[in-house]
Amino acid sequence: MSKANTLALFGGTPVYTAPFRFNNGIGAEEQAAVMRVLERGELSGFIASPGAPFWGGIEVKALQQAFVDHYGVAHALAFNSATSALHAAVSAIGAGPGDEVIVSPYTMSASSTAILMTGAVPIFADIEDDSFGIDPASVEANITPQTRGIMAVNIFGHAARLGPLREIADRHGLFLIEDNAQAPDALYKGRPTGTVGHIGVFSFNRHKVMQSGEGGVLVTGDERLALKAALLRNHGEAVVADMGVDDIVNTAGLNLRMTEMEAAVAQEQFRKMPAMNAERIRLANRLSAGLSELPGIVPPKVEPDCRHVFYMYVMKYDARATGIPRDLFVKAVQAEGPFLRAGYLRPTYLEPLYRRKICFGAKGFPFSANPRNDRLAYGPGLCPTCERLQDGELMLTAIMQPPQTLDDMDRFVEACAKVLANRDALLAAGKRLAS
Ligand SMILES: Cc1ncc(COP(=O)(O)O)c(C=O)c1O
Repeated sequence: MSKANTLALFGGTPVYTAPFRFNNGIGAEEQAAVMRVLERGELSGFIASPGAPFWGGIEVKALQQAFVDHYGVAHALAFNSATSALHAAVSAIGAGPGDEVIVSPYTMSASSTAILMTGAVPIFADIEDDSFGIDPASVEANITPQTRGIMAVNIFGHAARLGPLREIADRHGLFLIEDNAQAPDALYKGRPTGTVGHIGVFSFNRHKVMQSGEGGVLVTGDERLALKAALLRNHGEAVVADMGVDDIVNTAGLNLRMTEMEAAVAQEQFRKMPAMNAERIRLANRLSAGLSELPGIVPPKVEPDCRHVFYMYVMKYDARATGIPRDLFVKAVQAEGPFLRAGYLRPTYLEPLYRRKICFGAKGFPFSANPRNDRLAYGPGLCPTCERLQDGELMLTAIMQPPQTLDDMDRFVEACAKVLANRDALLAAGKRLAS
């Protein structure tokens, strides 16, 4: 067999030798934005006392206004990260010790630590097979008298089932928070994600579609929630008396403020985001067209009237159709060059913090504050769909990020096809390795 046909895993020539290039939309516009802040000399406009500077500087306000204009929401607040904005969101809904917030286990850790930081506990509902978002039926089954809110995560760039989730929240008098860090400008039934819930949160961290190094934005249509979040952002305890704020629940503040340079860069990135999304979608569509010709690899599903913005490209793998175990397939494709990973992050509840219920101090708080703590168990089997997808079915790549090209997409498909065509050699070697 020629070197080109032999799997790279066995010394053949890899299909793809180009190094993966990280998304980086930073250009002249961001440079000019930083310079205008430096020339002004005011690197943060925030002061933690009542008055105009309590609400942030020129660039922070301009970024917030850009979100208000783009999404038609009443309020937008810039934070130093999406994690901070999520923490402010959970605080704003009044969650505290003894309360529960239902959340997806298939997400980055910050979705549920934002809940813990208020003294409430996360309750993990299972996810759906195709959108990988939280399953409304599982959410409903997990509602208790302690439930205060639901946090849906629009994971990988696709909306969770936000319509039914909002309906459940409204019917039970709960708040719906959208962790929209991975899905700016995704659509759910024609509506922008982040705006279906009572609060939506966006991220500008280095790895997101749009970036300012670090940063986050919270949007809401509710004035009371916006005020609570703004107080938490900027040392609220020191200003509430002078500002005449009577409802002081969860207003002990932190410094969660965004700097002027971050806000200036974030504005430029937010302007570019629709075009950056469009390029990801173009590349992802090419990948889907190629992969759908191969047996056993199911490209990401886009629900009707939804827009997927492909923060990550997540496929389902059917080992029965290919005859190759997933992890062996992934190893062989990786050897051919492209970035491919088996699964995403393990379900959040499998982390030691949850399994051992050790968070603040060593005495079990905040779990100990929950009236049904003796029945709260975090461990394997809690969310079977999530575990099945993570352990055996999902594969993830970021190859559809610009500046990768259509040609890179074709090479990815070629690498997968080559591995599938070499099934027998791969399985024989797998057996040899095992014996
Ligand atoms: C789903 C999700 N939520 C929250 C965050 C936290 O975002 P940030 O890094 O801006 O705090 C991330 C970041 O990776 C994320 O992917």
